[in-house]
Order: sequence, then structure tokens, then C-alpha cells
Amino acid sequence: MPHATSGGPGRIAGDGSVTAHAPAKINVHLAVHPLREDGFHELTTVFLAVSLLDTVTVWPEDGLSVTVTGEGADGAVPTDARNLVWKAAELLARHAGVRADAALHIDKAIPAAAGLAGGSADAAAALVALDALWGTHCTRGDLAGLAAQLGSDVPFSLVGGMALGTGRGEQLTPVLTRRRTDWVLGIADAGLSTPAVYRELDRLRAAGVLPAGSTAGPADDVLTALRSAPADEVAGHLANDLQAPALALRPELDRGLRAMTGAGALGALVSGSGPTVAALVADAEAAGTTAAALERGGAFRGVQAVHGPVPGARLAG
Ligand code: C5P
Repeated sequence: MPHATSGGPGRIAGDGSVTAHAPAKINVHLAVHPLREDGFHELTTVFLAVSLLDTVTVWPEDGLSVTVTGEGADGAVPTDARNLVWKAAELLARHAGVRADAALHIDKAIPAAAGLAGGSADAAAALVALDALWGTHCTRGDLAGLAAQLGSDVPFSLVGGMALGTGRGEQLTPVLTRRRTDWVLGIADAGLSTPAVYRELDRLRAAGVLPAGSTAGPADDVLTALRSAPADEVAGHLANDLQAPALALRPELDRGLRAMTGAGALGALVSGSGPTVAALVADAEAAGTTAAALERGGAFRGVQAVHGPVPGARLAG
């Protein structure tokens, strides 16, 4: 790939490349309502973009190619048309009536299949970077429409910050807040398939093991707490309907959740469809000490101290 150089006009670097970053997300609250006829579940969720970023660099080339470094570069992340950045490039090219000519390089810090929307972050970063590279001048509204076609979480990866998500997660209402929250992420050894976790939720509900409807309660309580309440009160309102099915598929996650509270977290939950565990801590200092204790404990493959909200996909520089 081209070497990073100083940005030129329109954020195109001297070597002709464009770089964009996009954040991981956690669901501070996730209520899953019944399965719809289109195969998706109706959701009410509070998304929070956190300071763990993937970087996508694109440059001119005939046709499309994808390379990956970092998390998932061992083969977990595909480098062909199955990769969401490839789909993003084809979709944007079709929308704008240009040829899909670009090399895309993803430098991944966000683990794959982890419930952190890493693939969605890459797709959102690719849309922003290719729009600049190809000079397609899409509005943020155009990009949001393309994002929703790529996946339920991609619109949020584009806007970032904090938002209430409804529909299948793609309909967003921004939650304006200056409140910073600090979190520790516990990364598991192996990923979990999102469709498999939703299927397990449906199975547990149909079998009567879980109540038929959401047990997450209203999102309003956590939104109110996030506005001004102390972090321990926010922790009392964390909820995720996908946690029970994720635990059913991966019972050892329970050890991770307990390790978080044992290491001083105020509250912990499975992030999205898992298996990452997200734990709320009092502040950045607590994040550092909790992360250090967890690294010694060995319940996780990796531990990351992060904070949110942070902006969505944006050009570097
Ligand atoms: O939208 P995305 O492609 O990321 O969704 C992956 C899968 O997760 C879907 O095919 C579906 O099985 C499940 N899903 C769901 N309800 C949602 C979002 C995702 O059942 N609201």
C-alpha cells in the first residue's frame, strides 16, 4: 500500500490515497422485539461509539482488491466480495455511476465477530474514503441510505456519538450529550455469529425458557441516567436481550462478566450479540486499573480501556 503522506486537496494524500477512521460501538441498552417477516427483529437500542477505531485506506487501482492487517488478518476477515468494504465500494460506484476501481486496505483494531460492529465500521469508513477518492460528492443523507443497505449497524458507524436506534437498528435519533463514559472491553478468544445469537434468542423464547417479549425495560431510564446521574446509577440500567442467548451459546462468558465486577467495574454486559463483555467504570483512571487487573486475571484474550461518545466515520487528518 502507499506510504502515509501529508494530506493534499480534498484529503487526497500526495500518493493519491485517502484514509478514514470509524469507531466500534457498544449497545448500552438493547431491547429485541419479535422477529419480523423480513427475517430481522424490531429493536430499541442505545448505541454508543467508543474510542477503538479501524482505519481504511483507499487508492486508485483497476478493479477492486481488499487487504487486511491487525485483528482478523489471520483469515477471520475475508479479502474478497464477502467483505463489507467490497460491497460498500460496489454500492457507492453503482449509486454514483462511476467504475468500482480502488484498492482498499483495512487496518483493524476492532476484533471480528465480537459484537462491536467492526465490519460495519469498516464499511462506513470505506464509504467516506471512496466518496473522497472518487469525488462522488455524496451528502451524508446519501451515505446513510447506502449504509442502511449494507447492514443494520452501518448507519450508526457513519454517524457515531450516541443514538437511539429503532427499526432493525438503522433508524437513528441522535442523543446529544457531552457526558463521557469510560468502559473496559473484554475480548473473547473466538467470535460469535450474530444470526446464530438471534436464532438462539427466538428458540429460548419459543421454548418458554425466556419470556416471549423483551425484558430489557424501557431505554428512557438509561438515557435519563446518562444525562446527569453518577456512573453507578447508569450501570444499574445496562440491559441486553441478546445476553441470555449469547451466554447459552458460550457459557464461559459468565466468568468474563464476573471477572469484570471482581476487577472493580460498576456494571457489565455482553456487547450486542457478543462475545465481547463491556464494563462501565467510574472514570479513565478506574478504566486503567480495571484493565490492568483483568490482564493479570486471564479471563479474556485481550482487554481495552475505551471511552465514548466519539465521532462516526471520518476522513483522517
Ligand atoms: O443487518 P446485519 O446484516 O448486520 O444483520 C445480520 C443478521 O443479524 C441478520 O441477518 C439477522 O439474522 C440478524 N439481525 C436481526 N435483527 C436485527 C439485526 C440483525 O435478526 N435487527
